Amino acid sequence: MMDSFELNKIAGGVLLALLLIFVPKTLINELSHHGPVTGGFTLPQPDGDGAAPADGGAPVAGPKAFDPADVVALVGDASPDDGKAAFRACAACHSADKGAASKAGPNLYGVLGRALGSVGDFGGYSDVIKSKGGEWSYEALAEFLHAPRGYLPGTRMVFNGVSDNATLADLIAYLRSLADSPAPLPAPAAAAPAEDAPAAVPETPAAPAP
Ligand code: HEC
Repeated sequence: MMDSFELNKIAGGVLLALLLIFVPKTLINELSHHGPVTGGFTLPQPDGDGAAPADGGAPVAGPKAFDPADVVALVGDASPDDGKAAFRACAACHSADKGAASKAGPNLYGVLGRALGSVGDFGGYSDVIKSKGGEWSYEALAEFLHAPRGYLPGTRMVFNGVSDNATLADLIAYLRSLADSPAPLPAPAAAAPAEDAPAAVPETPAAPAP
């Protein structure tokens, strides 16, 4: 008698458990058979270059991808003074005076034309900058400073980059000035593939040392 009572209890428990499992399950099945849930809307996919129109208007930065040549072409007419002001964003990590000690980033005096990752007193270079090779040309600076991690994936320079081409050109003009004898300015359209004869070269006095 005790046994059958126990059995009843167990059977009841099992039944209850089955009910608890199957009733909600069938309910859910029933509900979900009324068709898939649709709704929401399709997010606009960025096209190729990521130049998604901001608010249905004209693309902000133009439809084409960043081209360092565009920046280099602006350097000749850029303002080193404005670049010096923009350099405040860099000065937390970079010294710019000749012979000044490197800070969180390498000293940048003479960086134009210098080999990548070659400042002797700076021990914090990443592997990627050391193995990249080459030197800091106008193009390389434009590309790196536009998108540090794009140009040197794995760089230790924690900086998002300068997105405005004119500001970037000012900055590069300032970096160029950090030298005993600054390198020649890039010709305004030199970066574009030379198709035409070099017509009407704007007079930029080459400033021969007196
Ligand atoms: C948060 C600190 C920080 C800021 C801000 C910063 N940098 Fe750097 N920069 C670094 C570090 C660290 C490196 C070394 C990168 C590596 O080894 O990958 C570096 C490397 C460089 C190099 C390569 C130097 C060489 O010797 O090869 C240049 C050029 C440079 N920075 C320019 C700039 C400019 C211009 C700005 C401002 C627009 C700037 N950086 C902002 C930390 C910084």
